[in-house]
Amino acid sequence: MDIAVIAVVGAGTMGGGIAQMFAEKGFTTRLWDVNPALTAKGVAAIRGRMAKSVEKGSLTAAAAEEILARLHPAAGLAELADADLVIEAIFEDVAAKTALYRQLEGVVSPQTLIGTNTSSLSVTELSSALTRPERFLGLHFFNPPTRLALVEVITTPAFPAARADGVIALLKRCGKEPVTVKDSPGFIVNRLLLPFINEAARLVDAGIATPADIDAAMRLGTLHPAGPLQVADLIGLDICCDILTKLADSLGNPNYRPAAALTSRVAAGQLGRKSGAGFYTY
Ligand SMILES: NC(=O)c1ccc[n+]([C@@H]2O[C@H](COP(=O)([O-])OP(=O)(O)OC[C@H]3O[C@@H](n4cnc5c(N)ncnc54)[C@H](O)[C@@H]3O)[C@@H](O)[C@H]2O)c1
Repeated sequence: MDIAVIAVVGAGTMGGGIAQMFAEKGFTTRLWDVNPALTAKGVAAIRGRMAKSVEKGSLTAAAAEEILARLHPAAGLAELADADLVIEAIFEDVAAKTALYRQLEGVVSPQTLIGTNTSSLSVTELSSALTRPERFLGLHFFNPPTRLALVEVITTPAFPAARADGVIALLKRCGKEPVTVKDSPGFIVNRLLLPFINEAARLVDAGIATPADIDAAMRLGTLHPAGPLQVADLIGLDICCDILTKLADSLGNPNYRPAAALTSRVAAGQLGRKSGAGFYTY
C-alpha cells in the first residue's frame, strides 16, 4: 500500500522526534497528544530544533518552512482519519495503549497500519486488543529518531515478516536502516545491551574494577564508542532497572534482575546524566 499520510500519537520525546523525521522526509504528518498543551509543546520543540539547524547553516529557512508546513498538529483523534500509518508513542502502559488502539480503529480506515514504539511491552499482547491485529506491528525507533538510523521492525504471528515489506521500504526511503525481529522480550538491542550493562554493574558490586576501568576496557578492547556504564548513565539507571526487571519476569530468568550497583543508585536518586549523578557525576 502507498503510505502518504503519517500520524503520530503522543507528542513527547519520541513522538515529537518521529513526527519531525517524517515531515523532514516529505510526508504529510499529523501529530496528536491527549493533552493539547503537549501537542503544542511538541510542535514548539520541533520548531526550536529546526531554528537551531537554520542558525547552524545545515538547513535553509525556506526548507524549514516547507517542513513545518507538512507538520499538522491535530486537535482531536478524528483528524487522524486519513492516515495510512499511525505510530503510537504514548506512555509505556498496556491499558493506555490498548484503549487508544480501540479508539483509533474506530477512526482510521480498515487498511491503515498501526505501529507501536514500545520498548518493552509484548507487541503480540498489545495486538490482541485490536479488531484487526493483522494491521499492527512494532516500530521501535531510537532516541533521537531524527538522527539514529536503527528501527527495529517487530513482527507477530498476525503480522509476519512477509507483510512488513512496505513499511521497510518506507523506512529505507527515510534513510533508516530497519532490522526485522520476531516479537520477543527486549527485541534485539535491549535483550543484548541490558545484560551487558548488568554484568558491568556486577563487577562494580564485587569490587573487581572501577566504572572508569570497566568502560575503558570495553572502549579500548572491543571498539565500543562508549563503555557499558557510560551508556547506562545515558539511558537512565531507573530505565535500565525497569527493562531488566521486565526481562527477568518475561523470560523467567532471575539472572536478568538488576544488580545492586544499579538499584542502590536508583534508590539514592542517582539516575545517571539526567539527575547529575550515576556511575559518574556530571
Ligand atoms: N524515550 C526513549 O528513549 C524511548 C526510546 C524508544 C522507545 N520509547 C518508547 O516510546 C514511547 C513514548 O516514550 P517517550 O519517552 O516519548 O514518552 P514521553 O513521556 O516523553 O511522551 C509520551 C506522551 O504521550 C502522551 N500520551 C499519554 N497517553 C496518551 C493517549 N492515550 N493518547 C495520546 N497521547 C498520550 C503524553 O501526554 C506524553 O506527551 C514509550 O512506549 C517508550 O517505551 C522511548
